[in-house]
Amino acid sequence: MSSSRRQFLRFSAGVTTASLPWCSRAFAFQQLQSAPVDGDKLIRLNSNENAYGPSAKALAAIMSAAGSSNRYPRLQYPELIQRIATSHQTGSDRVLLGCGSTEILRMAASAFLRKDRQLIHGSPTFEAIEHYARAADSQVIAIPLSPAFAHDLDRMLAAVSPSTTLIYLCNPNNPTGSLTPRKDLETFIAKLPSSTLVIIDEAYHHFAGASSMYASFIDHPIHDERLIVTRTFSKVFGLAGLRLGYAIAAPKVVQKMKKFATEDNVNALATEAAFAALDDAAGVAEAVERNANDRQEFFNQAMARALKPIDSHTNFVMMDTLHPANEVIEHFRKHNILIGPQFPAMNTYIRVSLGRPEEMLAFWSAWDQLPYPKSTRHH
Ligand SMILES: Cc1ncc(COP(=O)(O)O)c(C=O)c1O
Repeated sequence: MSSSRRQFLRFSAGVTTASLPWCSRAFAFQQLQSAPVDGDKLIRLNSNENAYGPSAKALAAIMSAAGSSNRYPRLQYPELIQRIATSHQTGSDRVLLGCGSTEILRMAASAFLRKDRQLIHGSPTFEAIEHYARAADSQVIAIPLSPAFAHDLDRMLAAVSPSTTLIYLCNPNNPTGSLTPRKDLETFIAKLPSSTLVIIDEAYHHFAGASSMYASFIDHPIHDERLIVTRTFSKVFGLAGLRLGYAIAAPKVVQKMKKFATEDNVNALATEAAFAALDDAAGVAEAVERNANDRQEFFNQAMARALKPIDSHTNFVMMDTLHPANEVIEHFRKHNILIGPQFPAMNTYIRVSLGRPEEMLAFWSAWDQLPYPKSTRHH
């Protein structure tokens, strides 16, 4: 890491957290503040990124596009929309691009929520939509996950009222890594009033493919005009730092949301990286397989310690430590390892993003140094 980059990290520790993944910004801020940060030594298992970086082809596209950074990417923008539409065998009028899928969530909150309207979401889940809903003065109803860590669709349905204009379903869910069965989602959606839109956040889609409980609502559509399905280039494609996401939705829904998009919300390097990444099926397959192996190894290590993580369909794992999560998080931070934030509803659980093998060795070594009697560490 260059010294200027290192200085930036030090600087940001004292001044701003704007560059950090915002869902955990306050938490990351606290982590960065409590000790000097050396970016070279930090092991970042806290934001569910792809620890291996973009594929070689995506990286080459980024490098060769860098010299054109003086230009707005206005020619590439409609081409990328078309490319994404083609990859999903849908119309380009159904594709909405965002500065990360986070911007898509903000657009949805801006377009469909306001005072006297209501968002329903699971708890815990990815928090961005809740924050944007509150910023829009909307009411927010959080429904705890079921004991199987699925969205509790019966309770969600019971909470629906005429003012419920948006429901957020993250599947697989962050932070639990768990699935809500496809057939249950279909039954639930069919019972909703026509005025209720549903976001299905498929950020971790590629890592869930093997489960018979899972089918993407993009790849296997139900042709319901109320659905907004979101995807991101931040996970399997390893492009979180370039900020690109998208939604597939009905043309009129796309039009309503697009009014709230930032002008030129997608950058020139992201568009070129995305073309290359979408053409690189082998790169995606490799990333999926590597993640499956890393996830299996995590479970092997956990089981060797008699731990029982929640079954994961993502590139991160959540598990009960039987101790206050904030203490465990702090222990790892002292070992220069960042893990996910504490989730109030599950305050003895930690969320660990899968890193490279050497990073996971460091994780387990730090785990083995937790200052708890071994008997209370085991299930
Ligand atoms: C479920 C979920 N949705 C959306 C995002 C946001 O991704 P991005 O804005 O990088 O596309 C994340 C990031 O961690 C996530 O976990």
